[in-house]
Amino acid sequence: MTMRSELATEIRRLHAKLEKLGWKEDDCALIAPVTLEINELKREQNAVILAHSYQTPDIMYGVGDFIGDSYGLSVKATDHPAQKIVFCSVYFMGETAKLLNPDKEVLVPRQAGCSLADAINGQQVRELRQQNPQAGIVCYVNTYAEVKAECDACCTSANAVEVVESMPQQEIIFIPDRLMGENLAKISSKKISTWDGTCIVHEGFDINSIRDIRNRFPGAKILAHPECTPGLVAEVDYAGGTEGMLNYVKNSPASTFMLVTECGLTDRFKAEFKDKEIVGTCILCPYMKEIQLDDVLQALKDPRPEQVIEIPADVAQRAKRSLDQMFELEKAGKKLLQEQGRSKLPWTA
Ligand code: 13P
Ligand code: SF4
Repeated sequence: MTMRSELATEIRRLHAKLEKLGWKEDDCALIAPVTLEINELKREQNAVILAHSYQTPDIMYGVGDFIGDSYGLSVKATDHPAQKIVFCSVYFMGETAKLLNPDKEVLVPRQAGCSLADAINGQQVRELRQQNPQAGIVCYVNTYAEVKAECDACCTSANAVEVVESMPQQEIIFIPDRLMGENLAKISSKKISTWDGTCIVHEGFDINSIRDIRNRFPGAKILAHPECTPGLVAEVDYAGGTEGMLNYVKNSPASTFMLVTECGLTDRFKAEFKDKEIVGTCILCPYMKEIQLDDVLQALKDPRPEQVIEIPADVAQRAKRSLDQMFELEKAGKKLLQEQGRSKLPWTA
């Protein structure tokens, strides 16, 4: 194929994916040379690009091999034969992929933070442990490796209920998300205390806008992330992580949905569920949106040291144990929730 016809084919490919989001062929033409180059480098280097559902559509559909939630993408990184992983997301997710794939090269296009991960460090967890020796400490996956290394188990929004319910201790300190911890406390058989971190995206949703959508679209199903306030979570039809929301919409006969989460997921649903209507507002995550196509290209061409994930061996070994515990406890917790008839709606009392 000539360079010209290659470019024309790429523009058509991008347009077919992005049309539903209002992209014109001219818009696709602007990014096509970059997506072509990235996809070529990916093949040459035997690399795989993982894109979180909160990334921009040009990354998800232009260069992503897999789009998903923090849990699913980390598992995908482990299953995939590629020796190089480019994780388009915030830094802690790249770290998680590295913990699960110590022998692979893991790159992040940007060292992007997260208001939750930035809320606590390893020393603060050690102090919590000293002050509360009787409690089990569970960390949300939105934490850095040095924090995971100090905890008994990790969890994601996809398995937090399962993990907490099957911890051996009756008393659990859940870090760093106060709101997710409060949501857990409402439904859990455990005594849960929390840290004071919050997600700047999910804490920003207003319960009145949910009620307004209910009034304007009486048949609409409303879905929220459990990083939202308990008051809001109590009013929605489904609470769960990004992949849980995807499955809910896929299997629901309803035609109208409101997603109370970051805008990338709204874009994803608009692009992928052509016969469903997504209504209401979303909030952008400034950390997730730091990542641009040019950063992905640069990381593949000539990675800067801060784009290559390295974790000190002792920290990596203890943080990995926390992830292994998550996989173990999740299995036991799934069985427990099934017995209680809560496996489909784990965040509901
Ligand atoms: P998921 O675990 O659902 O991918 O969400 C990650 C996140 O950052 C939520 O704000
Ligand atoms: Fe962190 Fe919230 Fe952004 Fe997710 S959406 S990366 S939790 S700040």
